[in-house]
Amino acid sequence: MEVNLKVKRFDPESDNTESHYQEYNLEVEDYYTVLDSLIKVREEVDGSLALRCSCRASICGSCSMRVNGHAKLVCKTKITDVAKEGNEIVVEPMGNMRVVKDLVTDMKPFWDKVRSVQPWLQPSGPAPEAEYIASNESMLHLNGVMSCIMCGACVSDCTTLEVDHNYVGPAALAKAYRFVADPRDDQDESRLKMYNSYGGIWDCTRCMECVQVCPKGVAPMDRIMVLRDNAIEAGFSNTNGARHTEAFNDSIKHSGHLDELTLPIKTFGMGGIFMFGKMLDIPALIRNIPSLMGLLPVGLRAFRRGKVPPIFHKKIQGADKIRNIFEKLESKK
Ligand code: FES
Repeated sequence: MEVNLKVKRFDPESDNTESHYQEYNLEVEDYYTVLDSLIKVREEVDGSLALRCSCRASICGSCSMRVNGHAKLVCKTKITDVAKEGNEIVVEPMGNMRVVKDLVTDMKPFWDKVRSVQPWLQPSGPAPEAEYIASNESMLHLNGVMSCIMCGACVSDCTTLEVDHNYVGPAALAKAYRFVADPRDDQDESRLKMYNSYGGIWDCTRCMECVQVCPKGVAPMDRIMVLRDNAIEAGFSNTNGARHTEAFNDSIKHSGHLDELTLPIKTFGMGGIFMFGKMLDIPALIRNIPSLMGLLPVGLRAFRRGKVPPIFHKKIQGADKIRNIFEKLESKK
């Protein structure tokens, strides 16, 4: 079959340092992967095309690129599965990373972030004579997350990283989860404290892109959600994210609807009096005044456009059933 590969090119050393698309029309076999096609371009058409690959068997994780707008391992992606009308396939370097040349990205920031979550076992007590041993059963739940090959696909398509490079990202946090959930590791509290800080678990917007593009089914977002639960259970609840979660739950549990008027106020923190029936925490309130003031322009804009949520909601029929669901779930914990 004939394919039209539209490849995003960038060469910092050429006269034209603007990125641009170059098209290659190729005759390939139906069983070719996108990587096979790119290698054919490099070997037979244009030796200047830069790309990164190694195992060609979806093991090493080095061939992540964007194909038709989404990150994929190109050695695992058959051309017949992604060819669009006219057999066009658009290939670009991974997103959220600096492009070194053509389809090759700089992975150093990726590895720095993975390293920042301390991805190594930290047991306490005397070191064993040989290795640290865990039963098969106690490790089974880690099977999925241990399949991660650090290809960077989740980071490439993370919508939070598009706007905030400080975010540690889905790959690093999936790795963080792997150690919190490891029965041999004894640093859960200090780990959760670290992951709970700025740029950590609460920055995920739950867009699910990382779940969708992960070629190994690691589901990083799901791991981040578990880390959030763990952090709250460990008492790390003084963050906008934790307050938002609690306020959201609280609202649905008590009335069956989401009170969008008080949700942002509770998220930024009013010291607790509006939240969970606790006493007003004056220092917290003073600390949060700048954030609360920052809500005013948004509130005014919403008011001008008639978008301010109602102060009083109509009673929802069957709200007591929702409360029952919450109570049942809470009693199971
Ligand atoms: Fe190793 Fe694709 S070349 S995963």
